[in-house]
Amino acid sequence: MAHAPALHEPASDRAPARRVLLIVSGGIAAYKTPELVRRLRDRGLAVRCVLTDGGSRFVTPLALGSVSEDKVYGDLWSLTDESEMGHIELSRSADLLLVAPATADLLAKMAHGLADDLASTALLATDKPVLVAPAMNVRMWHHAATQANVATLRARGIDFVGPIEGAMACGEYGLGRMSDVADIVAAAERAVSARGPSPLAGRRAVVTSGPTVEPLDPVRFLTNRSSGKQGHAIAAALARMGAETILVSGPTALPDPPGVQVRRVETARDMLAACEAALPADVAVFAAAVADWRPAQEAREKLKKGSGGVPTLALTENPDILKTVASLRTGRPTLVVGFAAETEKVVEHAQAKRRRKGCDWILANDVSPETGTFGGDSNVIHFVTETGVESWERLAKEAVADRLAHRIAEALEQDPQKAPAARSGR
Ligand code: C5P
Repeated sequence: MAHAPALHEPASDRAPARRVLLIVSGGIAAYKTPELVRRLRDRGLAVRCVLTDGGSRFVTPLALGSVSEDKVYGDLWSLTDESEMGHIELSRSADLLLVAPATADLLAKMAHGLADDLASTALLATDKPVLVAPAMNVRMWHHAATQANVATLRARGIDFVGPIEGAMACGEYGLGRMSDVADIVAAAERAVSARGPSPLAGRRAVVTSGPTVEPLDPVRFLTNRSSGKQGHAIAAALARMGAETILVSGPTALPDPPGVQVRRVETARDMLAACEAALPADVAVFAAAVADWRPAQEAREKLKKGSGGVPTLALTENPDILKTVASLRTGRPTLVVGFAAETEKVVEHAQAKRRRKGCDWILANDVSPETGTFGGDSNVIHFVTETGVESWERLAKEAVADRLAHRIAEALEQDPQKAPAARSGR
């Protein structure tokens, strides 16, 4: 049997190079993939390419073959290719499958398990980690079909980098551009290194998410419009990275994230109790939109219209869950992370909130109506710590979650002491 050409091994790296199978599908962003191959190789990763028919309209096999110094595969039915490197072996010999750009069509095929060309067949025939960098028109990205496919793929553990917001080749503007090459390389490195022991294995995380519901009487309540998307995505990202994760959530329409223990609550007081019961933990992330106030009285019976006229609503303050956990003298999680939804002076208010609440980090997001972030799929985050502020580009909520989870893993790496519950595997 003929042997496939050896993959490029960087001279500086004695350990066998990690291998990336780069699948290039048919979007204009494919023109960036020769640069992507170069940058991946700069990081010591060996790259072999699969090019779909559509991809080959935007970038040639010659260009990808030259920069990868390897054969470029494209045809499922090529006898020569199959004898050199069967399509199963193509994905088996990789440490990571990276799809960049991933079109709406290829995402749909992946979600539905179709295998009608080499790219989709390699993706179906793999048990290796898969990282996807979508690129498409903004309306295609937001279409319910694409979003359902993305949710299915995420639930199966497939990692996403991007898309990002910006001007598109079609003349429109919005979410759908392929992530920058540097960000894809960083995500690929993380995905490849995450193949070793999970960076958060042996750690325990508590995450709050969603709204709280504060009853007035048996049928009426006060609540807010929080969707829970950000908190659920954070719990999913922490669990993917190996943390034992407990999600304390108010009512949402979202499915339970895979691998996460979910505690359903309604009121702020129940949420606090569930968080306290879930401790000790190494990290606690408070992403819930907790009602600041609740009705001072909860009527046992439904309030009736009567002679008394319109009732006045008296409110009383709810416990501040973040502040309570951040100020625990014993059993405080190593890292306590809060959110600050602001509509003006976002960073200034978040810095003050970090000090007032006693937490380590605040993810401040601008929720002015024009940003479309509240209840939307993306967030513009200012990451506020004791030492400074980092402003992140607009990211999908899942990408915010991934970035935060990696920051948490890095910070906990410096802290060898693990929470007792995680140590004892409670
Ligand atoms: O004070 P503010 O509501 O702006 O603080 C937001 C942060 O505090 C979020 O992380 C939220 O989850 C948390 N919080 C809480 N309990 C409250 C109010 C807010 O945990 N009662």
